[in-house]
Amino acid sequence: MKHPPILETERLVLRPFQISDAARVKTLAGASEIYETTLNIPHPYENGMAEKWIASHASQFYEGNGVNLAVTLKADGLLIGAIGLHATLRHQRAELGYWIGVPYWGNGYCTEAAIAISRYGFNVVNYHKIASMHMQCNPASGRVMEKAGMCKEGILIDQVVKDGRYHTMIVYGIINREQRLAADGENAANDV
Ligand SMILES: CC(C)(COP(=O)(O)OP(=O)(O)OC[C@H]1O[C@@H](n2cnc3c(N)ncnc32)[C@H](O)[C@@H]1OP(=O)(O)O)[C@@H](O)C(=O)NCCC(=O)NCCS
Repeated sequence: MKHPPILETERLVLRPFQISDAARVKTLAGASEIYETTLNIPHPYENGMAEKWIASHASQFYEGNGVNLAVTLKADGLLIGAIGLHATLRHQRAELGYWIGVPYWGNGYCTEAAIAISRYGFNVVNYHKIASMHMQCNPASGRVMEKAGMCKEGILIDQVVKDGRYHTMIVYGIINREQRLAADGENAANDV
């Protein structure tokens, strides 16, 4: 895990952000549609916020706290979104987060990116679990989690407050299958 990865899929390249991406991030992440279904994206998205966010990525990665990658189109390099794994190393677990710019919704891009970064998380970083949660009012995100192979684990009623309203969160997760099989094998051996 020496450097942040560059991950290629059929239609996408997921690569580390550069400061030169800041204006594009401000435009896309600053849309009210992105704010409405997320908990940590500011609105209005003011000047300098994208630069500060991008500048935080290197220490996040090198301290083992996960990775944020720009979702770009393979065909022309256009940045269309962001995807990240935010790690809790003590538990060998990462939380998956993402947004895709509104003009690019509904093309399967987020699912493609989620599958790629989850593979990286399991095969390269060796997380035991990747988890995520979405607001109940955001079924598209739940669909992405399902299509990326995650299982619905539960519902947290009125878990968060956003703009004065309580929101119920739906929790998803996926276990690193190889590790799970290894653990099952150990348990079976102990049973004998
Ligand atoms: C959630 C988000 C990332 C999805 O990105 P995307 O690239 O459009 O996702 P995909 O195209 O891979 O998949 C979207 C799926 O949701 C489905 N969907 C869209 N709107 C839906 C709705 N209102 N109800 C149910 N399913 C819906 C789509 O039909 C598609 O499923 P399908 O392939 O079975 O038809 C995007 O909408 C977004 O950025 N939203 C704002 C930020 C956000 O909510 N981030 C996640 C926070 S948990």
